[in-house]
Amino acid sequence: MAKTKKTYTWPHRHVLGLEDLTADDLRHVFATARGFEAVSTRSVKKVPALRGQVVVNLFFEPSTRTKSSFFLAASRLSADVLDFTASMSSEKKGETLVDTARNIEAMGVDVIVVRHGRSGAARQLAEHVGCAVVNAGDGQHEHPTQGLLDIYTIGQRLGLDTCDLTGKTVAIVGDIAHSRVARSNIHGLKKLGAHVICVGPPTLLPGGFEAMGCELSTSLDDVLERVDAINMLRVQFERLTSPAFPSAREYTHLFGLTTERLKRMKNNVLVMHPGPINRGLEIESAVADGPNSTILQQVTNGLAIRMAVLFLVHQAQSAEPAASVR
Ligand code: NCD
Repeated sequence: MAKTKKTYTWPHRHVLGLEDLTADDLRHVFATARGFEAVSTRSVKKVPALRGQVVVNLFFEPSTRTKSSFFLAASRLSADVLDFTASMSSEKKGETLVDTARNIEAMGVDVIVVRHGRSGAARQLAEHVGCAVVNAGDGQHEHPTQGLLDIYTIGQRLGLDTCDLTGKTVAIVGDIAHSRVARSNIHGLKKLGAHVICVGPPTLLPGGFEAMGCELSTSLDDVLERVDAINMLRVQFERLTSPAFPSAREYTHLFGLTTERLKRMKNNVLVMHPGPINRGLEIESAVADGPNSTILQQVTNGLAIRMAVLFLVHQAQSAEPAASVR
């Protein structure tokens, strides 16, 4: 079990980003997730923790694994789950988002899990509804449960019970500029003591990340030997307004994780990817499917992490009057 202080009480009614969470909060999520891990391996994959509660998946962007993961997580906690796939095109200046959410809330919903193309959308929603809000990815801002499951996987694979990442180096590679996964990972990793190197072409590597305490590098080859985990991001073509690099071939040549590059890394380096993978672009198939890969373990852990987050926001909601919790 990860250590959490005896007096600790989870204080957050919403989970909007890892920027808002402390190291103790992160460890508490991990300890809670660890408790839920076993549920998915039982023949009856359910616990009654959220019985009688209603969780709504409000997704304004396409998603397969995150949406299914939240759906299963809520189901395993015995909540009623409603999948509400909304359309971005019907949304004007945030009014429809809040209106949609208020309408959904009026049906007696306890938790809204929201994914939206606009950075800040989850926080905006949290300010306007009385129920709990969990951010499942807002624009280029944060994707907190992805950050949590990535860090949880690192701790698990490195055998670090307390998830103290002091002395560990994690590289995040690729389209840093457009990545909510990178932002959430950076906030969490830094709070737990890791050294983070952001690697990518200069066009996808904004200087602002230095202010978040990261080292920046435009050369993957320069950092390979130093890292304990490498998180390969998908190039977010849908968010690029103009080409950020000359060609896919050039990108793979400079930033692709190939078998050749893997050979130069630590033997037990963790190869991570949030998915969906562009096989052959940012990662070679043999590497994605090889022994260093944690990709499927990340997906499995995502379920326990999301169960923990849903459970904790519900706990905060039931324990405190609405005005005193964030
Ligand atoms: C990520 C996302 O949607 O931000 N994927 C995910 O949640 N599984 C990363 C990505 O789309 O590249």
